[in-house]
Amino acid sequence: MASIVQRVANITRTKCSPSTVSRALSSLPCHVTAGRHVMKAGYSSLARESSEGKNVIVTGSSRGIGKAIALRLASDGYNVCVNDIASEKAAADEVAKEIRGMGRKAHTAIADVTKRDEVKAMIQSTVRELGPLNTMIANAGIAQVTTMLSLTDEDFKHLFDINVFGLHVCFSEAAKQMIEQGTCQPEQPGKLIGAASIVAFRPLDLLPHYSASKFAVRGLTQAYALELASRNITVNAYAPGIIDTKIWEKIDADGAERLGVRKGEVMKKYVGELTALGRTGRAEDVAKVVSFLASSDSDFVTGQTKIVDGGITFS
Ligand SMILES: NC(=O)c1ccc[n+]([C@@H]2O[C@H](COP(=O)([O-])OP(=O)(O)OC[C@H]3O[C@@H](n4cnc5c(N)ncnc54)[C@H](O)[C@@H]3O)[C@@H](O)[C@H]2O)c1
Repeated sequence: MASIVQRVANITRTKCSPSTVSRALSSLPCHVTAGRHVMKAGYSSLARESSEGKNVIVTGSSRGIGKAIALRLASDGYNVCVNDIASEKAAADEVAKEIRGMGRKAHTAIADVTKRDEVKAMIQSTVRELGPLNTMIANAGIAQVTTMLSLTDEDFKHLFDINVFGLHVCFSEAAKQMIEQGTCQPEQPGKLIGAASIVAFRPLDLLPHYSASKFAVRGLTQAYALELASRNITVNAYAPGIIDTKIWEKIDADGAERLGVRKGEVMKKYVGELTALGRTGRAEDVAKVVSFLASSDSDFVTGQTKIVDGGITFS
């Protein structure tokens, strides 16, 4: 056993082409792992497979974390459908243009994730323009600083409509498409990935119903993972901490007004007091973890909500 581990370590340390690494890895014995797919799951699959030729939809990807995910997945090999609402079309087109400049296919689909017909049309146009759908990233979301007792019914419903119902619509329609295509296999599962948050584990006082909506995302992730496992579809979520995007710009501004402090102070306080690594997160930090969840490296991972927060929440 020790010598096999040593051989793997030597191969992965050696600087050589991916095909040389792949050949060297496939020379190793596959008797250590048990299960149905012993040959595929053995050491021969240690190198990450390219995502080249796979197709993904990233909702809310004209800016922020969604944009970083779209660009990162394009650099991993994916063709990308960039989605957002109508008011963000110009920015979405810019992201699509950048992806084409990277040598990948890109498509812009304007759709409100709370409207099932629009989500269906987005999936159909993506399949037409790019090919079969392999991965859906339900990233679109909104936040609101409030208190439970001052929250209006309209605000409660609006936020849950986008953060929870919108994710459910994207997951369910994408799963139906993947099943109909017949492309999901144990060695190449379809992937549904959703935007949760660290507040899906412990609410933040400034964001009570937003926190509850992200708890629901974590619940949906687990429920979908159980139901779709037999269909060879994995379902996971990412849970960012404090990431420097428009959402946090707004949380900071609204929080500052509520707490009577200067703009920038709320974010500084939360980052300073809560984050072990002592800095604000970047959208790219989240995209790196989503890259793992969207890659073959996560084929045996399902029902999980992966924290990316610089050390606020210890799981
Ligand atoms: N920034 C953070 O610190 C942080 C932390 C935890 C979780 N998140 C989650 O990450 C996701 C991305 O957030 P972000 O920080 O990039 O925010 P952002 O506001 O920069 O981006 C959100 C995007 O979603 C789009 N969107 C909103 N409603 C939509 C709808 N109905 N249909 C389609 N698109 C819609 C917006 O137009 C925008 O482009 C969200 O779900 C958010 O809750 C963010």
